[in-house]
Amino acid sequence: MALKKRNAIINLILPLIVLFQIQTCKSDINREDFPKGFTFGTASSAFQVEGAVREDGRGPSIWDTFSHTFGKIADFSNADVAVDHYHRIEEDIQIMKDLGVDAYRFSISWSRIFPRIEPYVTIYHWDLPQALHDKYLGWLSDKIINDFANYAETLFQKFGDRVKQWITFNEPQAFTIQGYDTALHAPGRCSILRLCKAGNSSTEPYIVAHNVLRSHATVADIYKRKYKKVQGGSLGVAFNVIWYENATNSQKDIDAAQRAQDFQLGWFLDPLMFGDYPSSMRTRVGDRLPKFSEAESALLKGSLDFVGINHYTTFYARDNYTNFLGIILHDAVSDSGTITLPFKGLKSIGERANSIWLYIVPQGMRSLMNYINKKYGNPPVVITENGMDDPNGPFTSIRDAVKDEKRIRYLNGYLSALRDSIKDGCNVKGYFVWSILDNWEWSAGYSSRFGLYYVDYKNKLKRYPKDSVEWFKKFLKAKK
Ligand SMILES: *[C@@H]1O[C@H](CO)[C@@H](O)[C@H](O)[C@H]1NC(C)=O
Ligand SMILES: *[C@@H]1O[C@H](CO)[C@@H](O)[C@H](O)[C@H]1NC(C)=O
Ligand SMILES: *[C@@H]1O[C@H](CO)[C@@H](O)[C@H](O)[C@H]1NC(C)=O
Repeated sequence: MALKKRNAIINLILPLIVLFQIQTCKSDINREDFPKGFTFGTASSAFQVEGAVREDGRGPSIWDTFSHTFGKIADFSNADVAVDHYHRIEEDIQIMKDLGVDAYRFSISWSRIFPRIEPYVTIYHWDLPQALHDKYLGWLSDKIINDFANYAETLFQKFGDRVKQWITFNEPQAFTIQGYDTALHAPGRCSILRLCKAGNSSTEPYIVAHNVLRSHATVADIYKRKYKKVQGGSLGVAFNVIWYENATNSQKDIDAAQRAQDFQLGWFLDPLMFGDYPSSMRTRVGDRLPKFSEAESALLKGSLDFVGINHYTTFYARDNYTNFLGIILHDAVSDSGTITLPFKGLKSIGERANSIWLYIVPQGMRSLMNYINKKYGNPPVVITENGMDDPNGPFTSIRDAVKDEKRIRYLNGYLSALRDSIKDGCNVKGYFVWSILDNWEWSAGYSSRFGLYYVDYKNKLKRYPKDSVEWFKKFLKAKK
């Protein structure tokens, strides 16, 4: 009897909660709040969505090897099928058209080589051909510069007539640190706590970053000399940028927040804008930080047509050293002399999404845009990724999973902050939501859902629109 009563009450209250949630999902913002010609799109990467890993002559990449290594992926999955984007490309382009986006950012799979939605093409989104890693350790060797340049030039020749927006590298700082310092990503090298068979967490990240930067500069030079005049395209890099807020107002923590940013964005953007690494890195890393020749500096400077920013979250920064149970790790992360965390004591900086690193702090977007404006002289910026994930709960029904009011709040908040930054005078040109579909989230496997569309992993990978699709559709189609 009591049980029946409780059920009756729940049945009464649930619709009210749902109604309340719909009310709170109202949009404060739509595309008319952005300048004319502003681009809205959605982003993905080849390895996370394509599947079809052994078709049409594709060779293995370092992510095929890594994802098939026992213990590397949270849910023991691999991306052999992923969300089968390779075979369903027409259906997926149709849902993008239906959503109303102007552009689609995707990456080309290096190891696979060879519409009214404008392509923004990522040349390297982490899937290095395994053969190059076996041959000379991939990004650890400067032999990679020539091979990468050949690959990029092949793409300019084959697709440059249609592709006008190129992103040479996705998140260089992330794959440098995760692949060669902490070993959470392919190729999984490190020396910290003797967790890995091979690697050196205090030197390899700097060598990899150096070769990535020289590769970008070489490719930008080739494009400028041989293709730009005819093809008229632009070249950018998509940087991963957490906004760092000083944890307290002490000068030590204010300096720490700046240092944390130097070791994240500055590591790559300073050389591309000013020709050298930030001075805080030179001071703290010393001889382990490679040097650019004068010719290389000249090639780096001004080699970006736009600054791509993948921004998801904000952390607090403190002056301190990363350590593990008191052991200072002496790796690239600890070189910055900061500890960055999404909480202060027990209080978190914002509401958490599914990923342990993803806290919702919309105003961080505005602070970051203004920081780039001030430090780098207001270059053109494209938000190449922004979004949040829900867990892939084994007992969550599709009906519940598509009710993503948290994602709607996230998008509403971040887009409002982005619009405010444009009002502040920041030169922002475009915005790409990550992602159109749930997909294979690197070492988190399928346990995390970033899509506007739900993918049913249990039933033929069928796509279902979440509530955020309706919201974004309205946003994109709005007329004031
Ligand atoms: C990493 O390389 C540096 C410089 O060659 C060396 O001094 C250090 O001992 C190496 N560390 C490990 C863990 O191999
Ligand atoms: C960071 O420093 C600024 C400048 O002193 C201060 O206004 C702000 O409150 C500080 N942030 C935090 C979270 O303490
Ligand atoms: C650094 O962090 C540790 C905890 O990881 C703490 O015990 C120590 O007091 C901190 N040092 C400073 C200078 O804040």
